[in-house]
Amino acid sequence: MRAAGSPGAMTATGSRLKGLHCQGCSADLNAAQPTGTCPACGSALLAVYDLDSIAAREWWRSLSARPASLWRFRELLPVQDDSHIATLGEGISAILDLGRLPETGDLQVLLKDDGGLPTGSFKARGMTVAVSRAHELGLSSLFVPSAGNAGVALAAYAARARVKARIYLPEGTPTPMQRACARYGAGVVTVPGTIRDAGERARREEAGRGSFDVSTLREPYRAEGKKTMGLEIVETLGAEGMPDAVVYPAGGGTGLIGMHRAFEQLQALGLLDRAPRLLAVQPEGCAPLVRALRDGAPRATPWQTPHTVAPGLLVPSPFASDQVLEAVRATRGGGTTVSDEAILEAVDTIGRRYGVSVSPEGAAPFAALPGLLREGRLRAGERVLLYNTGSGIPFL
Ligand SMILES: Cc1ncc(COP(=O)(O)O)c(C=O)c1O
Ligand SMILES: [Zn+2]
Repeated sequence: MRAAGSPGAMTATGSRLKGLHCQGCSADLNAAQPTGTCPACGSALLAVYDLDSIAAREWWRSLSARPASLWRFRELLPVQDDSHIATLGEGISAILDLGRLPETGDLQVLLKDDGGLPTGSFKARGMTVAVSRAHELGLSSLFVPSAGNAGVALAAYAARARVKARIYLPEGTPTPMQRACARYGAGVVTVPGTIRDAGERARREEAGRGSFDVSTLREPYRAEGKKTMGLEIVETLGAEGMPDAVVYPAGGGTGLIGMHRAFEQLQALGLLDRAPRLLAVQPEGCAPLVRALRDGAPRATPWQTPHTVAPGLLVPSPFASDQVLEAVRATRGGGTTVSDEAILEAVDTIGRRYGVSVSPEGAAPFAALPGLLREGRLRAGERVLLYNTGSGIPFL
């Protein structure tokens, strides 16, 4: 695999990408054009693959001999040619066995730690795929509103692909993240308010500049990168070793869509029988998705006066929330909320007890365990995987 833009012959990746499908009006679109949301109805678009053309068992077995980058799943990713892949070597993240916790008795707890991925968070997964595909489709300037991690990841992968990037960050974004974006050469704009304000400002300012929006679910390929979270869980634990549930800190919720797609596609390929329940955790001060799950609502309504210590979870009106809710419900999952105090306590406990540096977002699933048990969303004796989405180092 060469760096993006490096000279040499074209080598097909073997991607089985067939097209894009609108989640709102069911339109099928050609994936060869750069497309954000559905031109007809404005809904999110998701990638469609020709799964029938994959010899599933051989393909699955061949993965272990490939380089340890998420691009080993290239048949289920959208990039067509190797030379367009902008990679920083985003390797396989570890799944640590935390055993049984004093707080939660009989649960068997695993922690998947994406804190060691390039740029320190799981956002590397979505951005390596979105930037590579954007580069492949000839886009030369990208922008994103971000709580921090997505901005740092876009800045790094844009540098790698030699495309321009501009990042819109809420004013309260941790300073190391603001500095990191600039250090990778991206333009940085700070905006008062939350990511919603940053998004509005970004779309207003970038309209007419010919720059492409890589916001959560406003382009189809970040979700494909996040799909590798689910593919990797199955790859590491094996179909027989799957947890009963995955607990995930949800902001915009793309990770939930991504993991659901992974389990669905592996099921369609005959490689997985039983998918885990997806459990979304949000902070008490900003929980539009969990509120909608509890109310049985088809989509989230905007959260008034949002606040939390976990910047990545401060998403008061998630885009395409109907898709996120559908993904959770399809797995018979659900959601719960945690207080900021419980999040901060969990950051300390995970560091001291297990030697893992977690961000406040990454601590939220651990903090949620007692509540999930109390509410019956987890049952004694179950095996549960907590997703640490990012390192705690930028928060020190
Ligand atoms: C560390 C971390 N965890 C979780 C999230 C939320 O991710 P998602 O959009 O998949 O809900 C973010 C988003 O910024 C984040 O930075
Ligand atoms: Zn549509």
